Amino acid sequence: MISTTLSTSDYLVIEGGKPLKGKVSISGSKNASLPIIMASILTKETCEIENVPDLLDTRTAFELLQYLGAGVEFGKGRVNIYPSSINIYTAPDEVVRRMRASVLVMGPLLARFGRAVVSMPGGCSIGVRSIDQHLKVFEKAGADIRVRHGYVDMELKRLKPVEYTFEVITVTGTENALMLLSSCEKKSILRNIALEPEVMDLVEVLRKMGAEIYIEDRTAIIRGSRELRGFSHRVIPDRIEAGTFMVAGFLTGGDIVLEDLRIEHLGSVIEKLKEAGAKVDILSLNSLRVRGGDSIKPLCISTAEYPGFPTDMQAQFMVLCCLADGVSEIRENIFENRFQHVAELQRMGADIRVRGRTAIIRGVKKLYGAEVYSTDLRASASLVLAGLVAEGTTVVKDIYHLDRGYERLEEKFKSLGAVIERQPRRKF
Ligand code: EPZ
Repeated sequence: MISTTLSTSDYLVIEGGKPLKGKVSISGSKNASLPIIMASILTKETCEIENVPDLLDTRTAFELLQYLGAGVEFGKGRVNIYPSSINIYTAPDEVVRRMRASVLVMGPLLARFGRAVVSMPGGCSIGVRSIDQHLKVFEKAGADIRVRHGYVDMELKRLKPVEYTFEVITVTGTENALMLLSSCEKKSILRNIALEPEVMDLVEVLRKMGAEIYIEDRTAIIRGSRELRGFSHRVIPDRIEAGTFMVAGFLTGGDIVLEDLRIEHLGSVIEKLKEAGAKVDILSLNSLRVRGGDSIKPLCISTAEYPGFPTDMQAQFMVLCCLADGVSEIRENIFENRFQHVAELQRMGADIRVRGRTAIIRGVKKLYGAEVYSTDLRASASLVLAGLVAEGTTVVKDIYHLDRGYERLEEKFKSLGAVIERQPRRKF
């Protein structure tokens, strides 16, 4: 029977117009947790990781490790991984399709087995997202690489030190390279690396495991070890979740306090939010207060690698621009197709024109509730934000995307006074 189900997952129903008030605690970082979880493949000793958010993506990472043969215990934000029993070096298509960050097993599997057979990640809705830079590092480290039947099949007989300058600044490319080379006793040099806080958190873990890693500007010098140790580590807070709540507090004209974050990771986001007219008070190194202003000033945003303005905050700030007093411009420099949320925001009354990688947003007086579809993780967050401030009811569908990267988002918004309910999927 042909399924008439339009939505493949639950949806959120939001009544707009409530200013958010109160305190919210920021969860651990998804994008720091994922490489750190995969780093456990590099050792045979127990690894204990705290502050891991309970998300679809982290659960997928645990499933993948169990598939490879590891023992995994997860509960209350803490995961214990027992990697000594890992005996498989293949990551199947079904898992990689579900979570492209599964490519982060490539470096560790090559280091451990000299073999890795990983399904080639397809593109996704925000872009092609090739992994040519990952493969170039593996090749320089001595791997023979064949792409067959949709799988990247790699064999590395002897791990060689690498000197490589990334042609593109890549977060997971840097992470894969650091994990592989942390197992090479000779000195490697990587240039033009990514400096995201999530990469630096992985570096902390690799150092705890016994690798010597020295970083200056965008150059890393690595001297690894054949016998990397287990580790205990507390994952950094999620700066993108924090940024999402900061936008929500300002957008709804509310007054909220965010706790358990890291101020130093939020520089460009705080600056941009103040530029838009928000009142942002730094309360400590781990907390800040955001209050709404009288109006939203138009912005000019250009996404860039850290410490520039994060591409993962682009969709959320676009909602601010939709209601600004004037015309804003957003240029998306990292991904070639990260404006999927535009069509959905237009359904809510936004005035946005896209020309290539640039969106021109003419502020309107208000947005109107509508039925909208999530397309990717951060786009779905922007639709929730729009629903919080729109007139009337907004139904955000396919929130599977949201559940991949935000821990209990609707509960946290509800605790701040939002009128938001999760509904089980329905036929029409
Ligand atoms: C990471 O993705 C994050 N994911 C993304 O967050 C984030 O948007 C992105 O970095 C940019 O900050 C994780 O950390 C799990 P890239 P990643 O490799 O590593 C091109 C979210 O919302 N490129 O830094 O896949 C690529 O096509 C997610 O949590 C190559 O051309 O991103 C893109 O245009 C979405 N060749 C640009 O570089 C390569 O070999 C940046 O990609 C690698 C990348």
